[in-house]
Amino acid sequence: MVISNSPVLSPNKYTGVNPRLKIDTFREQCPLAAGEDVIQGLTQRPKTLPPKYFYDDQGSLLFEKICDLPEYYLTRTETKILQNYASEIAHLTGACEIVELGSGSSTKTRILLDAYQDLDHPLHYLPIDISGGILEQSAYDLLENYPTLHIHGIVSTYETALKHLNFSPLPARMIGFIGSTLGNLKPEECHVFFSHIVEALQPGDYFLLGVDLHKSPSILEPAYDDSQGVTAAFNLNMLRHLNHLFEGNFNLQNFEHLAFYNQTDHQIEMHLKSLRSQTVELKKLNLAIEFTTGETIHTEISRKFELEKIRAELEDLGLVSLKTWTDENQWFGLILYQLKMV
Ligand code: TRP
Repeated sequence: MVISNSPVLSPNKYTGVNPRLKIDTFREQCPLAAGEDVIQGLTQRPKTLPPKYFYDDQGSLLFEKICDLPEYYLTRTETKILQNYASEIAHLTGACEIVELGSGSSTKTRILLDAYQDLDHPLHYLPIDISGGILEQSAYDLLENYPTLHIHGIVSTYETALKHLNFSPLPARMIGFIGSTLGNLKPEECHVFFSHIVEALQPGDYFLLGVDLHKSPSILEPAYDDSQGVTAAFNLNMLRHLNHLFEGNFNLQNFEHLAFYNQTDHQIEMHLKSLRSQTVELKKLNLAIEFTTGETIHTEISRKFELEKIRAELEDLGLVSLKTWTDENQWFGLILYQLKMV
């Protein structure tokens, strides 16, 4: 284990180490540095890139902007559901340690923390994110706003973080995976992911899952191709991130953002389309990649779910769905599962 050697304190705001905060960084197990997956993705046909490369600090900021876009209904809708039902969730689970996968700025999580705080439950929060900058910043903000909150942040991939969780000191643990991030995993990845979730839970522990539901492409497509071009900038930022990591020379002006709904697989697909024939080098990977005009790199999927199906899928793993909440349009679903008692 490597403890983050970047200063844990943000520059001018904080003066001492806070006993309510701990942040671990697991970099050496993070395949980000190696770039094997980039080589593999860019040398296959069609070309692909792993979505985790979206999230450098700049990418995380752009993602925050996406969440505020008028076309991007997901965050607003899930926030509403949380506002309506967070207190019910807190009642159902009782005191629990909240682990959040892909915590980002932890904005929606505050609604949950408020609800647990209102019930006078102890507050233990474990944010997990691949982007250290945003995790650290939001951890400090949370400490200021929640005087009894204990935070143990983990900067790493989900898989690594889930393997490193200690026993919860509270009566239960709830792993939160909201924002329909599940939809960004391929079906086969979902399977492996769920098995890691189950391993990180004890019988009686909880899993809170937020999923985006089937709906018309006329609502879905603009959500991933907004009029201000923020989603385009987010998608293209991956190339800038790769340039930085691997001494690359992607010229962002030579690529274009593409997003459409695949109605057969019920998923939004995001690509980066090459606007000309070009060769791109990634020096650190010893890689030169040729692109033809119009050739695409597949960067992301965002699957859309049916509540019945996703409930059944997890029941098979011993996760019993206790309750499901949705919004007035049934656009988004929030499901609370409990790992079966033995
Ligand atoms: N999980 C969310 C979604 O699928 C957020 C997200 C992940 C996203 N990758 C994205 C949003 C790429 C826009 C573009 O909507």
